[in-house]
Amino acid sequence: MSGVPDGVQRFTAPLTGHAIFLVVTVSDQAVDGIRDVLRDLGGLVQTVRFRDPGDGLSCTVGIGSRMWPTLVGGPSPRELHPFTPVVGAVHTAVATPGDLLFHIRGDRADLCFEFERLLVAALGDGIQVEDETSCFRSFDRRDLLGFVDGTANPVGTDAADSVLVGDEDPAFAGGTYIVVQKYLHPLDRWQALPTEAQERIMGRTKADNVELDDATSGQKSHKTLATIVDDAGVEHDIIRDNMPFGRPGHAEFGTYFLGQSRALWVIETMLRRMFVGDPPGVHDRLLDFSVPKTGSTFFAPSAGLLSTLGDAVDAPAAASPIVEASPTSLGIGANRAPVSQEV
Ligand code: HEM
Repeated sequence: MSGVPDGVQRFTAPLTGHAIFLVVTVSDQAVDGIRDVLRDLGGLVQTVRFRDPGDGLSCTVGIGSRMWPTLVGGPSPRELHPFTPVVGAVHTAVATPGDLLFHIRGDRADLCFEFERLLVAALGDGIQVEDETSCFRSFDRRDLLGFVDGTANPVGTDAADSVLVGDEDPAFAGGTYIVVQKYLHPLDRWQALPTEAQERIMGRTKADNVELDDATSGQKSHKTLATIVDDAGVEHDIIRDNMPFGRPGHAEFGTYFLGQSRALWVIETMLRRMFVGDPPGVHDRLLDFSVPKTGSTFFAPSAGLLSTLGDAVDAPAAASPIVEASPTSLGIGANRAPVSQEV
């Protein structure tokens, strides 16, 4: 494929009807082949997308810090590092393995499925699937807890300003940091709560999706804890592509969280405020009903950089070997050193 491909790295695209989140680890021997697949990801998307151009099928790939030196070469994006567990007094945001994230989106489940099938075949034996979650849009963009999810996402130029790296890291301009977490909900316990209690936890009314006032002290709502204002009074937004998933026959009900930001510290601060609490010890009550089973961090390069991936492999910084150990299992636990509990 020539030029910057369409259909890949569409960070600010609106929510679709379906999404598949595929997280894999890569064996070191397979890096060259994987790089070829990523460079032509746009061509692979087009192979499927052409069959229904109205569907808007797209794929975003994120690359984890462990893979960056060998897969991309040159210096890494300046904030890129592995997901660090966030340990609160009651709940922990776990870290799980992930060298690559594929965020496949479209309005037709069959196109998403077909693209994933071709993608996995192209990636070959050099990958190990760590997590694969197929999601759907539920009613008027509600999560399985029954709340409209995504309302506060920035739109238009605000969206691009919030997620696209700019002059602060010019070599990676146009890319974005991505954090994913797969949450499971004990739905029976949540549904046993009165609606007013659920609304206080979320910070919005359930039926009408209207914001409630922020508490300034004591227990704060999810919405308030996830609002990040810096010392200069500037609010830092992220784009969330949360999607529901589940298997009622297995009593499995979940939310796949995906957050994109031009600055990784913004998402990490949100996680600290949720898990450790603000003030520390007063955690986000949403976590009493949402258990994170995975947690991984990636940098998604711009479409242009993706199509030339590896051109910097021979650059001096690429000489450094892979140094960070990958977590070895998807189990809950502190696979990495916990972050500071300061908020
Ligand atoms: C707001 C659900 C996890 C960041 C919201 C809202 C809902 C929601 C219903 C209010 C409506 C909206 O603006 O979207 C959930 C669920 C989660 C989850 C079900 C997982 C089980 C997270 C995580 C983060 C996060 C892990 C960040 C690390 C935010 C932000 C807002 C928000 C930034 C908007 C706050 C504002 O009003 O400015 N979430 N969320 N959420 N959530 Fe979450």
